[in-house]
Amino acid sequence: MTQAKKRRMPSKSLNQGLGAAKAAKQDEFYTQYVDIQKEVEAYLELDSETFRGKVVYCNCDDPFESNFFKYFAANFNKLGLKTLITTSYDGSPIAGQGTLFPEYDEGNGKRQKPKALAVILHQVKDEDGDGAANVTDVELFLKRNKAARIALKGSDKYPGGDFRSPECVDFLKEAAIVVTNPPFSLFREYVTQLMEHGKKLVIIGPKNATTYKEIFPLIKETKLWLGSGFANGNAYFSIPDHGDREFADGVYDESTGLVKFRNVGWFTNLDHGRRHQKLPLMTMSENLKFSKHKDLKGKPAYDRYDNYDAIEVPFTDAIPSDYAGVMGVPISFLDKYNPEQFEIVGTTESNDRDNAYRTRVYTSQECREGYSRRFGKPGVYDLNASGVVDGVKVFKRVLIRHRRRTKGKKK
Ligand SMILES: C[S@@+](CC[C@H](N)C(=O)[O-])C[C@H]1O[C@@H](n2cnc3c(N)ncnc32)[C@H](O)[C@@H]1O
Repeated sequence: MTQAKKRRMPSKSLNQGLGAAKAAKQDEFYTQYVDIQKEVEAYLELDSETFRGKVVYCNCDDPFESNFFKYFAANFNKLGLKTLITTSYDGSPIAGQGTLFPEYDEGNGKRQKPKALAVILHQVKDEDGDGAANVTDVELFLKRNKAARIALKGSDKYPGGDFRSPECVDFLKEAAIVVTNPPFSLFREYVTQLMEHGKKLVIIGPKNATTYKEIFPLIKETKLWLGSGFANGNAYFSIPDHGDREFADGVYDESTGLVKFRNVGWFTNLDHGRRHQKLPLMTMSENLKFSKHKDLKGKPAYDRYDNYDAIEVPFTDAIPSDYAGVMGVPISFLDKYNPEQFEIVGTTESNDRDNAYRTRVYTSQECREGYSRRFGKPGVYDLNASGVVDGVKVFKRVLIRHRRRTKGKKK
């Protein structure tokens, strides 16, 4: 390598720093009020008392910028909250830039330190005497009561407002329900912390987290599931400072300032109506005869995996209603998952290798042979990392079966 080239290469630690900065930047996208409202309403539809008397904690939310704070402050009395705690993060590169409250646009337009602060509301009263108690009153209250903001110092290990910092963990202990859109780069750690503290949660996360080794077991054991979701699976977020970030065509809309994500969803352990709706299905023979999917229509039978005691079901709406065995279905099935209708028994992912329905483990030699058979050149085909049909790996699958009816006494 030439000296010039060498000099342009960042050092390992600089690389790590740049990587962390990039991840932090990727974490900065902001949830719309309407999406929070729709999601919360899905829980209220099933139980209007879901939030009554509860301490709600938004722990990745600048109270002066976040719509989570705005929504819960505006609906404090309607939801019957006991307390709303909101904490912001000192590491946020945009803290103090976009603000819900004009007070912070005064002066130089940027909030001065401390960026990390907690705002705790125990009540929302009609401060301006207009006959209603809403977010305008919260704004007035915060203006009049500077003591309602608590500066967060953080610790040696974590900056102020970090959800892992001792101050935030203390707030977490007080909380009953955590509601936010956390940094995706820390999603595993974030969910693990909430679970360890036994909290209820309604949070936004990347859909592919469903197969993470820390997350999938929670879904399998129905300790965590997907929320009601974004309209048509499209989630739109605002990115106040997108600067040098690049987006694929059709992702960023300049006129609205919103980015569209298709692979993002709500994760929760609060009950909502959609997860009790039964998925309407055809029988196996009806699917083979009438399926709208050309890959299935006219086939003599569903494919079986070479390495799992299960059939391959390439589409959620093609799950046969009368098959009693194990079925591999797309991850998107989780959006339709009704735990009274189905049981999740595993995944074909490499992190679920001990799965009881796995019938075959390929040797390295077989993986090499599999590659050259499929691609006509030397290489390694990691057949152990997925379901295999006729020597070909299929997409990520969740292994499910119909929930067996337990024989109960007739009433
Ligand atoms: C995806 S953004 C969402 C912001 C806000 N919750 C919303 O939905 O509009 C995630 C936020 O978490 C903040 N954050 C990043 N790391 C954090 C940490 N370790 N602890 C707390 N917040 C963090 C980021 O600064 C960012 O504002």
